Amino acid sequence: MLIRRERPGDIPAIDLVHRAAFTREYANGGGQGDAPGIQADPPEVALVHRLRSDSGWMPTLSLVAEVRDHVVGHVCLTRAAVGPYPGLALGPIGVLPGVQRGGVGSSLMHAALGAADALDEPLVGLLGSLDYYPRFGFVPGSRLGIVPDEPAWVSHFQVRTLTAYEPGITGEFHYPDPFYDL
Ligand SMILES: CC(C)(COP(=O)(O)OP(=O)(O)OC[C@H]1O[C@@H](n2cnc3c(N)ncnc32)[C@H](O)[C@@H]1OP(=O)(O)O)[C@@H](O)C(=O)NCCC(=O)NCCS
Repeated sequence: MLIRRERPGDIPAIDLVHRAAFTREYANGGGQGDAPGIQADPPEVALVHRLRSDSGWMPTLSLVAEVRDHVVGHVCLTRAAVGPYPGLALGPIGVLPGVQRGGVGSSLMHAALGAADALDEPLVGLLGSLDYYPRFGFVPGSRLGIVPDEPAWVSHFQVRTLTAYEPGITGEFHYPDPFYDL
């Protein structure tokens, strides 16, 4: 497996990854307005496209996992803020269902966090499972005095501090705008 930066030609394969990874989750709660048998794309597919067009997009931090020349996973980090301080938002992260539980997601997480640390970013925030992300060093943001500016997200908001982090970095975490359209 290779972890490398996204290239322009990867975009259709990245769409496929998120469509497949998130479709089951989306089917449980979304698409109520659709005709029977028609499943709309999960919102994560459009989110990645909107992020690419947003000022918060960081081409250095959009990574794919590749196995035998096929993209099987993707993650991106985008420019966020904690009050006046810089931060990064992680997500979405997706892995093709057929290769999940094989270490691809962990490899993407470690590569993304290592790259963010090397770029002297102080912290990464995300919304996600309280069971999965602590293994990568994430803790509830509220423990560090960092809470998302959307109250509904507080319970699943987690932060991973990096080398450049200082305890004075507290306040409201603001995502790039496309996250608020989800
Ligand atoms: C979450 C995801 C990226 C993990 O990728 P992966 O390649 O399966 O991850 P890894 O193989 O590195 O790690 C698998 C481990 O994570 C655990 N795990 C995966 N998703 C989890 C979740 N939502 N909650 C709790 N644990 C989870 C697995 O149980 C497994 O644990 P184990 O090794 O102790 O059995 C992948 O499952 C996925 O694409 N899921 C659908 C999309 C999604 O939910 N993305 C995250 C929200 S943005």
